[in-house]
Amino acid sequence: MLDPAMNYNPIFHPRVNTLLHGADYNPDQWLHVPEVIDEDFRLMKLAKCSIMNIGIFAWAALEPVEGEFHFEWLDGIMDRLAESGMYACLATPTGARPRWLATRYPETNRVRADRTLELPGTRHNHNYSSPVMREKTQIINTKLAERYAGHPALLIWHISNEYGGEDHSDFSQVAFREWLRERYQGDLEALNRAWWTSFWSRTYQDWDQILSPAPHGERAVHGLVLDWKRFVTHQTVDFMRHEMKPLRRVTPDIPVTTNFMENYPGLDYFRFADVMDVASWDSYPRWHTPAERPGQAPGDGITGQGPGSGNGAAGDGTDEASPSADLRDYERAADVAFVHDLVRSVKAGKPFMLMESTPSMTNWQQVGKRKEPGMHTLSSIQAVAHGADTIEYFQWRKSRGAWEKFHGAVVDHVGHEHTRVFGEVADLGSLLESISEVAGSRVPAQTAVVFDWENRWAIETAQGPRNDGRTAYLETVITHYRQLWKLNIPTDVIDQTMPLDGYKLVLAPMAYMLRPGFAERVEAFVKAGGTFVATYWSGIVNETDLCFLGGFPGPLRGVLGIWSEEIDALPVGETRSCSFEPDNTLGLDGGFTVGELCDRVHTEGAEVVARYRDGMYRDLPALTRHESGAGEAWYLAARHAEHDLAAFYRALASRTGLTPNLDGQLPAGVAVGLRENASYLYYFVQNYTPDDVTVTLPGGRNFTLVDTGESCAGTLHLPVYGVAIVREARG
Ligand code: GLA
Repeated sequence: MLDPAMNYNPIFHPRVNTLLHGADYNPDQWLHVPEVIDEDFRLMKLAKCSIMNIGIFAWAALEPVEGEFHFEWLDGIMDRLAESGMYACLATPTGARPRWLATRYPETNRVRADRTLELPGTRHNHNYSSPVMREKTQIINTKLAERYAGHPALLIWHISNEYGGEDHSDFSQVAFREWLRERYQGDLEALNRAWWTSFWSRTYQDWDQILSPAPHGERAVHGLVLDWKRFVTHQTVDFMRHEMKPLRRVTPDIPVTTNFMENYPGLDYFRFADVMDVASWDSYPRWHTPAERPGQAPGDGITGQGPGSGNGAAGDGTDEASPSADLRDYERAADVAFVHDLVRSVKAGKPFMLMESTPSMTNWQQVGKRKEPGMHTLSSIQAVAHGADTIEYFQWRKSRGAWEKFHGAVVDHVGHEHTRVFGEVADLGSLLESISEVAGSRVPAQTAVVFDWENRWAIETAQGPRNDGRTAYLETVITHYRQLWKLNIPTDVIDQTMPLDGYKLVLAPMAYMLRPGFAERVEAFVKAGGTFVATYWSGIVNETDLCFLGGFPGPLRGVLGIWSEEIDALPVGETRSCSFEPDNTLGLDGGFTVGELCDRVHTEGAEVVARYRDGMYRDLPALTRHESGAGEAWYLAARHAEHDLAAFYRALASRTGLTPNLDGQLPAGVAVGLRENASYLYYFVQNYTPDDVTVTLPGGRNFTLVDTGESCAGTLHLPVYGVAIVREARG
């Protein structure tokens, strides 16, 4: 828990102590129609906007001809923002290059993995290793910083946009080799050993023979593939640092952020923690559609038909008496919550920015379903509940033409405020104003789920034990996370390099690759009284993807007290049943169903809590617990059906003394988030069902609705997709 005496700081700047509301704003598309821009400022006031993200794709408007700069229009926008009491989240414009740059300097275009050079066009595709690209970036960013240093509207820098992708040009090949030389301290033999290049005669005799992975070239050396992915993150972060140099020099007091794309596979977002001041992300969930659950669809994967159903079906802290509730959005909300918690954890719990979300629909999802009335406020408040201090949209006004003309926007093509979407945005703006006191408060996480990008890459690169997409590391981590979210237990999402102290429970599903020091830190955490949960397919390889010799789960073997002899992969739909030992530590009876990935495990000091009942693993341990020092470590030897996993976590949460955000039984489909500051606890009660619900608040306590100041002891009535933000004084 956080120290109540600590100083809670607003996220951006001493000038800001409220929640902010705004959008990506592209006035550069409308410079030829000044009355549209006048209208924008009138409408922003009505929508209660306080921040606008500007200049993101404006390089061509700022520098239409190489070396010829036009800042007048941006001066006007910045001045108007300041005059209207709004802030600018001002972008560096590298998200899209002007045509002159991509045409005159083809080296700024990317080279793909198959070594074809991209043509000028589209966006998010600059060559981050190109010297010309870096030089031109430096020039425009310096001009921006010098021009707007000290401007009252300038609040935060938005560096580029959604960094992503990779480049295989000669510039990047050279940089990759330099990076490798440093990593392996100039010792090519060490690299060869680390990558096991004696396999298939892949040994490198010279650094210059090292090429990035390619579909028509090298891809069988997993150590190479892994190091390449690390390098891509390194080079992207390096480009970001390069972008920031003039900003840091000229505007040292202005923080920076860059917007993440959910669980984007190509970059290790945790490595951006040191370079940026504030984390932010762009959220586009498919509301009102069933959440994707690989391996969990009835009749397809693990359906949970075993004896385990005796341990409770809903598997969460909600009221099982409403089986007919439509829980699609509740399930979806769990997956979105994971990303909010991940992004917050990148900056160690500091409030983050929801940089983009759609006010209505996207134009790129297969089916562009709109948010139903209420969902806009609900999904935005969910972000606040998980630690966001700004809510922003893509986009303020719909483009008239090109790729995104049908993407949701606050202002539609009709051009006025009399639309359902505008009304909902304005209502949310008012609500955010009225709950602004929550800005700067923190989420008091009691647990952490380990999600590690390098481990993800290693698992996805490996051949076997199954190659049908159902190894599913990310989905497995989210499935474990979801069980805590449904219990309303606040959780951080960390990687293997981050501290474990302070948590009561740490889960590290499928920790296949162990980063140096992680197993030691897990041991210390458990000895000090923590509870650790690991699963099958853990402790298999080291950081260069070499298998641990002498028995899996490698360095985790001691703390878990087991030896995993072999792992089996089952065809889709084939399952095994397991049963709990009589009088087991968890107090669970009956059994559970497993499938997809099943370990044959032997105990080495651990207690057997459940055993397999059939197949070649019959009578072998399926769930174990090992004490060490003041804590314990659990091992799930096989992949559980989700409702069985829920029963496990429900029992473990109570054993570990985890406290839900709000005591008592909640209606199905209702989630409660918690933030706190020195004075108050803030509960965010969220109804993800298309029905009205009534929530009973714990008795004998004083709750107040933050937006109206009314006391609300007793019950809360939430309409369809309704929310309530409730405050309780500390102590
Ligand atoms: C991303 C981009 C935006 C916009 C949206 C559309 O998040 O950053 O510029 O294209 O997608 O959903």
